[in-house]
This record gives sequence, structure tokens and C-alpha cells, in this order.
Amino acid sequence: MKSSELLAKIKLHGKPPRHVAIIMDGNGRWAESRNLPRTAGHRAGMEAVREVIEGSIEAGIEVLTLFAFSTENWQRPSIEINALMGLLRLYIQKETDRLRRMDVEVHVLGDLSNVDSTTRKAIKDITTETVGGSKLRLNLMISYSGRKDLVEACRLFAEEVSKQEMSPEDLNEEILSERLYTAGISDPDLLIRTSGEFRVSNFMLWQIAYTELSIVFTLWPDFSRKDLFSAICDYQLRDRRFGRIAGQRIPR
Ligand code: FPP
Repeated sequence: MKSSELLAKIKLHGKPPRHVAIIMDGNGRWAESRNLPRTAGHRAGMEAVREVIEGSIEAGIEVLTLFAFSTENWQRPSIEINALMGLLRLYIQKETDRLRRMDVEVHVLGDLSNVDSTTRKAIKDITTETVGGSKLRLNLMISYSGRKDLVEACRLFAEEVSKQEMSPEDLNEEILSERLYTAGISDPDLLIRTSGEFRVSNFMLWQIAYTELSIVFTLWPDFSRKDLFSAICDYQLRDRRFGRIAGQRIPR
């Protein structure tokens, strides 16, 4: 089916996922299979990011969260880390205007303490320049770890208890959620992982408790609007029960 037909199908069905999260995987393999340096795969992956943002807006997605760099990725060779940070800066330089015109609000979530000051400045620029974008909220997860996100939330809560702003019995799911990087955003409805790996790799561990999973074999640089639309069509046929039984009303 063509991507325009898939999009028409999404619209006809209605209720697209509100929040889609993607583990963009396979850049290295894409490059290696072409005898190119791994960084060429990341560069090609940047183009796929553009395509998916456009597709998300067309499909009516409200929040798109992209896992761009994990805390574990700091262990890669410095040449690759520098290339990834350079690509992020290039992306910001090339895309900020377009994203603003497309009404996209960009947020960068993660522990930025290890990120160099030039890249941090670029991150600050894209986030301030896109404030107020109302078509799509784009979360770029940089230096992100799901476990660290949870530990940090617990640490924040503990600090509040020690300052007597909170007491231990105040802790509940909502209070914890409000202290995560994703505070105020609904949990992902759909998580897509490319390159055929069947794992979640420390990504949004709390937030994906009831998320529908879509594992696709396409390597990230080859991932297109059509792949996004197919995953959404498939999602629209899922029976989401959130632990209830079929037919019970589910709050959206
Ligand atoms: C995983 O592929 C991908 C990454 C670690 C980086 C993702 C970065 C991009 C898509 C490009 C830049 C994006 C932005 C938003 C500027 P891998 O290297 O683990 O691939 P492999 O498993 O085949 O080795």
C-alpha cells in the first residue's frame, strides 16, 4: 500500500496514537552493509528523523519521542560520540527554522551534564526558539537512561521529604511521574523499535508500562513515513485493555 493510502486508512479509523516513541536503531549496520563508516549511518538516520516528524504531523500524533543517545552510548569510541554530538548540532542548525515553521515544539530530555558546552548551547537555542509550537511536541532523548530517570525522580522526592515539603506517605504513581523527565506528558501509546531487536534497552521503563510495541526489521536510516503509517495502522487494530477485560471502557 502507498503511504497516502495508509494515511487515509489512519484518518478513516480515527484515534491515532497520541504519543509515539521510537528507538532508532540500526544506523551502524546500515553503514557497515554499504562499507561506509558508522557515522555515515547516523547522518542518513538524521534524514529519517525529518521524514518521521513530517509523517507524525500528517497522522495527527501529538507527541513524538526519539531516543537519540543513551547514557550507555557514552561508552562508544570518542570519534563516534563526537560525530553524534556534531550531527546533533548540525541538525539543530539546519532544522530549527523548519521545525518552527512546522509548529513543532522541541524538548531535549536527559542528563546533559556530560554534553559539551557548544552542544548544550545549541540545545538551549532550539528549545527556546521553538517554544509554543502546537502541532507536535518533539522530545529528543539525549544522554537518557530509563533507570537513571527513575533514580533521579526518587532522589528529588527524598530531598523534598528531607526539607519537609513532602512526607513518605505522599509517594504514589502520580507524584513519581511528576518528577520524571517526561512530567506532564501522557505515556507513549506506541513504541517502535527498528532493526529487529526485541528489547527496550533502558528506554522509558516507567512510561511504557502499557505501551503497545512494534518491532520492525527496517534499519533506522531506511525507516520512512510509510513504515510509520504501517505501524500506526497496526496499532489501531490492537485491543488495548490496560489489565481490564474486553468491552470495558478505558479512559483515554
Ligand atoms: C542507534 O544505531 C542509533 C544511535 C545511537 C543514534 C541515533 C542518531 C540518529 C538517528 C541521528 C541523529 C539524530 C538526531 C535527532 C540529530 P546504532 O549505532 O546502535 O546501530 P547498530 O545497532 O546497527 O550498530
